[in-house]
Amino acid sequence: MERWEVKEGVGFLRKIGIKSGQSVLDFGCRIGHYTIPAAKIVGSKGIVYAVDKEQQALNELQQKAIHLDLKNIKAINTSGQIQISIENDSIDVILFYDVLHYHEKKEREELYCQAYRVLKQDGLLSVYPKHTLEDEPIQEFRRLSLSDVKQEIEDSNFIFDQKHCGLISHDDSLTQGCVLNFRKHEEMYKYERN
Ligand SMILES: C[S@@+](CC[C@H](N)C(=O)[O-])C[C@H]1O[C@@H](n2cnc3c(N)ncnc32)[C@H](O)[C@@H]1O
Repeated sequence: MERWEVKEGVGFLRKIGIKSGQSVLDFGCRIGHYTIPAAKIVGSKGIVYAVDKEQQALNELQQKAIHLDLKNIKAINTSGQIQISIENDSIDVILFYDVLHYHEKKEREELYCQAYRVLKQDGLLSVYPKHTLEDEPIQEFRRLSLSDVKQEIEDSNFIFDQKHCGLISHDDSLTQGCVLNFRKHEEMYKYERN
């Protein structure tokens, strides 16, 4: 996975839309298989907020960051709460990768609401919806299809933008998978500001 974090993962996250200088939120980052490549892309002018509820995972991530001399990762232990203590309209890209299935519908709706709040107007919400009916179903996704998940995100004021498929990280190995990118619903944004 070391090679994924510094090479293929960098290529994949560039392809989904992360750029130099951006602010990224990796919610449910675990040991950082996506945090590390994101931090390499955003560079010293950017920042990656790495959120998890497991301190041990965050410790491991921080050790890797030290080893790779990455100073732009801010690890946040939320103890599992859904509220994200990050300012409104401040994040360019949010990653919900292999994490939504931990949460029941009401919590997922709150997560989408938080994502909408912290994302900039032209920000990107990127979701790896692992564990739906089509793909090793478990936990809160065990009865949901991929299109159900896509629909509930669109029902939360996001518009589906693009799908990116390839060899990606899942747990501690590489697998073929797809992530879905969403943008904020512009009409809703205008409505909120008026
Ligand atoms: C399966 S791992 C995915 C890790 C990473 N996103 C990836 O794709 O490699 C899910 C992680 O989400 C974390 N998690 C689940 N619910 C969470 C919550 N409400 N707040 C913070 N972290 C959460 C778990 O502790 C776990 O580390």
